[in-house]
Amino acid sequence: MRTLLIGSGGQLGRDLIDVWSGDLVAFSHQDFDVCNREQARQVIVREQPELVINTAAYHRVDDCETNGALALEVNALGAKNVADAAREVDAAVMFISTDYVQDGLKGSPYVEGDLPRPLSLYGVSKLAGEHLVRQSNAQHYVVRSSSLFGVAGASGKGGNFVETMIRKAKAGEPLRVVDDQVSSPTFTADLATKLQELAGTGRYGLYHITNSGQTSWFGFAEKIFKLMGLAPSLTPISSDELSAPAQRPAFSVLENRALVDAGLQKLRSWEEALGAYLEAKGHAA
Ligand SMILES: NC(=O)c1ccc[n+]([C@@H]2O[C@H](COP(=O)([O-])OP(=O)(O)OC[C@H]3O[C@@H](n4cnc5c(N)ncnc54)[C@H](OP(=O)(O)O)[C@@H]3O)[C@@H](O)[C@H]2O)c1
Repeated sequence: MRTLLIGSGGQLGRDLIDVWSGDLVAFSHQDFDVCNREQARQVIVREQPELVINTAAYHRVDDCETNGALALEVNALGAKNVADAAREVDAAVMFISTDYVQDGLKGSPYVEGDLPRPLSLYGVSKLAGEHLVRQSNAQHYVVRSSSLFGVAGASGKGGNFVETMIRKAKAGEPLRVVDDQVSSPTFTADLATKLQELAGTGRYGLYHITNSGQTSWFGFAEKIFKLMGLAPSLTPISSDELSAPAQRPAFSVLENRALVDAGLQKLRSWEEALGAYLEAKGHAA
């Protein structure tokens, strides 16, 4: 299947390049700006893909609160530009979304049919992107994932949580980490592999894809340090103590129900995935 990838310099984008088997043409932000509707159209018409994967995002969650116009331009209208152009050449589109479309109040894992209610502007912009993709192109996969960590590090965030924790611990900094936001940390290499499997099904729709299990950011940090043999000063704190500009869901674990219904296996646990990440990164003992 001829596939066009957008956002190829990001951590998920880099892993998609690594795992994708078949004809893949990849574009970094520099070569393909989802906000440039005419450029998006021209490139997609020229390349004639059968599938377009859009991993592009403006996802500095706190900055989105004061830069809502940019969040909507990239995450919503940009997603529509891509979905429209894909439709024009009869290609399917895959849009990567987030657990932050949920408010976190359900208290048990979200299924795809649960009504979203984002708390942050970032979440609103990604949910708008989901709707625009679905409205534009019937051949769509909208895939929500959560708390990504990948070997390349998030280019839009200047790294990832795992690397930040390791760097600070090695520098001897005392760490205060939020313990009241629970999600499923997800390794982008695992997500990329599953995205390829999903694309092979031709079963369009909304999917949750995350590593299995759940933890808070504090629990995630504890596990990183355990696997690394590090023992920094680590204190659990509440979201209120952190008082970040954007509100985040307290419990945004996503049940991968549609994936299983499509006949695909769930991803391994986040702990196993973290071990594989540390090894791939050369951190393992
Ligand atoms: N990171 C997470 O924890 C997380 C959680 C759930 C869902 N997601 C979603 O997963 C997807 C992949 O995330 P990621 O962690 O791989 O992010 P990432 O490493 O920041 O990759 C996103 C890529 O998009 C590019 N980009 C930004 N604006 C663009 C634009 N206007 N046009 C084209 N490309 C643009 C970025 O390029 P530059 O850096 O050069 O601008 C970057 O290479 C995103 O859609 C995100 O919303 C992420």
